[in-house]
Amino acid sequence: MASRLQYFLAFAMATLVTIPSHAQLTPHFYDKVCPQAMPIIKSVVQRAIFRERRIGASLLRMHFHDCFVNGCDASVLLDDTPNFIGEKSALPNMGSLRGFEVIDEIKAAVDKACKRPLVSCADILAIAARDSISISHGLDLEDLVALSGAHTIGFAQCSAFRNRIYNDTNIDHNFASSLQTTCPSNGGGNSNLVALDRASPSRFDTSYYTSLLSNKGLLHSDQELFKGDGSESDTLVKLYSKDPSAFARDFKASMIKMGNMKPLTGNVGEIRSNCRRVN
Ligand SMILES: *[C@@H]1O[C@H](CO)[C@@H](O)[C@H](O)[C@H]1NC(C)=O
Repeated sequence: MASRLQYFLAFAMATLVTIPSHAQLTPHFYDKVCPQAMPIIKSVVQRAIFRERRIGASLLRMHFHDCFVNGCDASVLLDDTPNFIGEKSALPNMGSLRGFEVIDEIKAAVDKACKRPLVSCADILAIAARDSISISHGLDLEDLVALSGAHTIGFAQCSAFRNRIYNDTNIDHNFASSLQTTCPSNGGGNSNLVALDRASPSRFDTSYYTSLLSNKGLLHSDQELFKGDGSESDTLVKLYSKDPSAFARDFKASMIKMGNMKPLTGNVGEIRSNCRRVN
């Protein structure tokens, strides 16, 4: 779902950022005229989300509510005046739109960096919405499937797969029976361990994915990645099972992406002297 939203926003971005002379739109517009613009917007959004996690959702909603009245023109940001009642006072927005201070903060920061009012308010709304998505839902389906590949060297306790081997229907019958001694239905042996990739439990390879193709995923959540319904996730499992270098490439990229999720840098956070407690 996150990936679909990202596609949508990438599309929205492409349609929003304006080139004044031709009425064409490109997501790279600010790269030349003010290369600092995009990174600055992202860093303000990042700080705002760090201060208050929910603000990402608020920024996203603000962009939608702006676009769904008369197009994406930043009209949602306009304050009421004695002779103008704007969208802020409209029923769907009144008292519920949040994040205007963040938009003000972004606007001040980009105008300062670009040395003039260069980035439009509508673009700020669109870019902030996109950044909120990528900061808040940093991992997409491809990351999920690739990162699950780490199960190739993992083990699970019986209590985590008991329900699956006795009750699930999308499981190979012989595979399920072979596990029932280790993991009895009467609730015993809860901590007994079984490899998630029984073919090669100590090798970081792609046989974990191959096992999913024949309904031999140990955990219910493993098998959810391959349902045999031709979904996007099925396609990725098939690809990784037969192409170890595609798996290696995507696993690496997803690990880096995961490792970059909301790191605390600079003056934010602290170097703990004991990892078990804050200083
Ligand atoms: C199988 O499902 C039923 C109904 O949800 C549940 O009561 C039972 O505990 C499950 N069996 C195992 C072995 O988990």
